[in-house]
Amino acid sequence: MIKRIGPCPTLRGEIISPGDKSISHRAAILNGIACGKATISNFSSGADCLSTVSCLKALGVELKRISSLPVAFEVQGVGGQGLHEAEDVLQAGNSATTMRLLAGLLATQSFLSIISGDSSLRSRPMGRLIHPLRLMGASVWGRGGDYLAPLVIRGGELHGITYSLPVPSAQLKSALMIAALFASGKTEIIEAAPSRDHTERLLQTMGARIEKSDRSITIIPQDIPLRSTDVCIPGDISSAAYWLVAGAIHPDARIKVRDVGINPTRTGIIDVLLQMGARLKVENQHWEGNEPVADLVIESSELVSICLSGELVPRLIDEIPLIALAACRASGTTLIQDATELRVKEVDRISTTLKEFSKMGAKMEELPDGMLIHGGNQLHGSHCSSYRDHRLAMTLAVAGLVACGETIIHHAEAADVSYPNFWQDIDKLRQTA
Ligand code: S3P
Repeated sequence: MIKRIGPCPTLRGEIISPGDKSISHRAAILNGIACGKATISNFSSGADCLSTVSCLKALGVELKRISSLPVAFEVQGVGGQGLHEAEDVLQAGNSATTMRLLAGLLATQSFLSIISGDSSLRSRPMGRLIHPLRLMGASVWGRGGDYLAPLVIRGGELHGITYSLPVPSAQLKSALMIAALFASGKTEIIEAAPSRDHTERLLQTMGARIEKSDRSITIIPQDIPLRSTDVCIPGDISSAAYWLVAGAIHPDARIKVRDVGINPTRTGIIDVLLQMGARLKVENQHWEGNEPVADLVIESSELVSICLSGELVPRLIDEIPLIALAACRASGTTLIQDATELRVKEVDRISTTLKEFSKMGAKMEELPDGMLIHGGNQLHGSHCSSYRDHRLAMTLAVAGLVACGETIIHHAEAADVSYPNFWQDIDKLRQTA
C-alpha cells in the first residue's frame, strides 16, 4: 500500500491511542496460564498482539473476542500445566515479543514446540534468549548456530539461575521471568539499565512472588497458580508519541491524546520532549490496575537539540526514529548514542531512518550506536519506504505533515502491526483543522 501525505495548515483534535502493545501481550499470556476467567479490554488491535492470541489458542488457551471496537477478549486460563502441544509450527508473524515471551513459557512445557515468524523476525537475534534458557536446563535450538528463528523447543524441568542481562531487553527479561515461574529454585535477573516493567507489575497483581531491589529481580517459583486478573489496557505511549512529535513540530497544532500509559519505564519520550522545550502537559493522572495513566496535551513548540544516551535509551527505544525527526526540526545538533539495539529491531532503524530522512533533506550522520542530527532545516517530500517497519511507516507520515510537497510512503500497510487506525487518526487530525 502506498500513502501520500502532504503538509496541512493546522493539526487539531483528540485521539485515543490504541491499547498498549507490550501490556496486551503480557495480559494474554499470563492470563492464559492463570487459573480462572479474565476479561482483557482495550486490547491492542495490532497484528503483533493478534499473533500472540493465535499462538496461545494453538496451545490450548481459550480466548474469545467479546468486543471489536475497542477489542476485548475473555481468557479462560488453563494453569501452568494445562497447555498442550500445538499441531503445527507456531507463527509469531512480525512480533519478537510473541516469540521471546512464548519461548520462555514453552521451555517449561513437556512437549515439542517450533516457533517461527516472518523474514524480519527470522533475522533477529535469538541467541540472547537461547543461552540463558539453556543455563536453566532447557533444550532449545535455533537456526544459524542457535542464533536465529525458527526456534525448536523441547520443554522440561528447569532450575533457577542468577543471570545478568547482556542487553537492556524487556523481552529477554520477561521470557526468563516466565520460565522462572515454573523452575525449581529461585531465579535472580540483574539488569544493567531498567527496561519496561509491565511483566513485573502484572505478575505481582496476579499473585506471583517477585522481589525487586535496585537492579535485581528475584522470582520465586509458583506453588499455586497465578490468579486470573481483569485488565483494562492503557493507551500505548509508543503510539501516542507520533502525535506528540507531530504536535510539537507542526507550526499550528494542539492535540490531546487520552488515557495514555505513563509507566516511568516508558516515558523517556515525555522527558526528552520537555527537555527539547516542547509545550507538553500531562493531565488527569490516574491508575488502570497497576499502571499509571494520563492525558497528554501537546502544542506547537520551538524545539532545541539534546544529547541522549545511557539509561534513558531503553525508556524510549521505540521512539528514537521520531526523536530523530523532532531533532531535524530543532535548533542545534542532537546526538543520540548507546542505541545499538536499534540495529536489531524489525529493521536496522539507524540506517533506515537515516536513509529515508536524508531523501527528505535531513542532515544526519550515522554512528555505530546512534546518530548525529543537524537541526533547523526544512524537509521536503520524497518517495520513501517503510522497509515494512511499522514505526518507520508512521514516522515518515509525521514527517510528511511538516515537509513541503508530498511524501509518498511505500509499504505503508506496515502500520497495522501496532496501530491499524493510524491512517484514520492522521486524517481526523487534519480534517478537524
Ligand atoms: C518490548 C520491548 C522492547 C521494544 C518492543 C516491545 C516488550 O524490545 O522495542 O517494541 O514488549 O517487551 P526489547 O526488549 O528487545 O528491547
